[in-house]
Amino acid sequence: MTIVLKRLSGLILTIILVTANAILLEIILDIYGIEWHRLFTGIFGTLLIVLSFGYSLRKRKILITFGNPMKWLICHEWLTIIGTFVILVHTGTHFKALVPISTLFLMSVAFISGLVGKFVYNNAREELKVKKSELSREGLGADEIEERLWSLTVASGALSKWRKLHKPVIVLFALMVVYHAVSALYYRGF
Ligand code: HEM
Repeated sequence: MTIVLKRLSGLILTIILVTANAILLEIILDIYGIEWHRLFTGIFGTLLIVLSFGYSLRKRKILITFGNPMKWLICHEWLTIIGTFVILVHTGTHFKALVPISTLFLMSVAFISGLVGKFVYNNAREELKVKKSELSREGLGADEIEERLWSLTVASGALSKWRKLHKPVIVLFALMVVYHAVSALYYRGF
């Protein structure tokens, strides 16, 4: 029970820290009249989130076949956390048009859903503790144990159910990002 509470508070703390720090940084940039950051933070944040999909490619061995998938998952998590932070600096507190607002909303849902996925992942992995000691008794190396545990965890029923909800959000979010980016660049002038 205490471990579940600890993980839940970690989830809530991540949301608060990312949002509050992004708003604070954007207010400071506003005070100093630094407006040019918007194009930079928009492109950079999107790039980080696009790079995070490297995990999906590694998972399916499409184009990327190197590296421990568990480490790719950790990269996915950090790239999406930093990417979300940068995008929140990009949007700041200036909400005017419907498309950017909808894109921001979908990103926030994707971000929170990702954190929930991490929560489900950690719980599923916890249940494999016995398996971990079995694997180390078999004499497998640390990297191989991590990879086996990762594949068992992602195949767990709880995570498969969560992915059914997570994936449509990601698809909608990706479509909105493309629509928002194309329209923003078009109206600024290509
Ligand atoms: C903008 C935000 C995010 C996007 C676009 C995103 C995208 C995705 C996608 C597409 C998958 C499915 C992987 C696959 O089966 O190919 C996934 C899974 C996952 N994501 Fe994220 N994610 C985001 C945020 C996060 C965050 C913030 C975390 C945690 C810190 C996270 C942790 C996970 C975990 C644990 C999985 C499950 C691994 C698996 O199913 O193989 N995600 N994410």
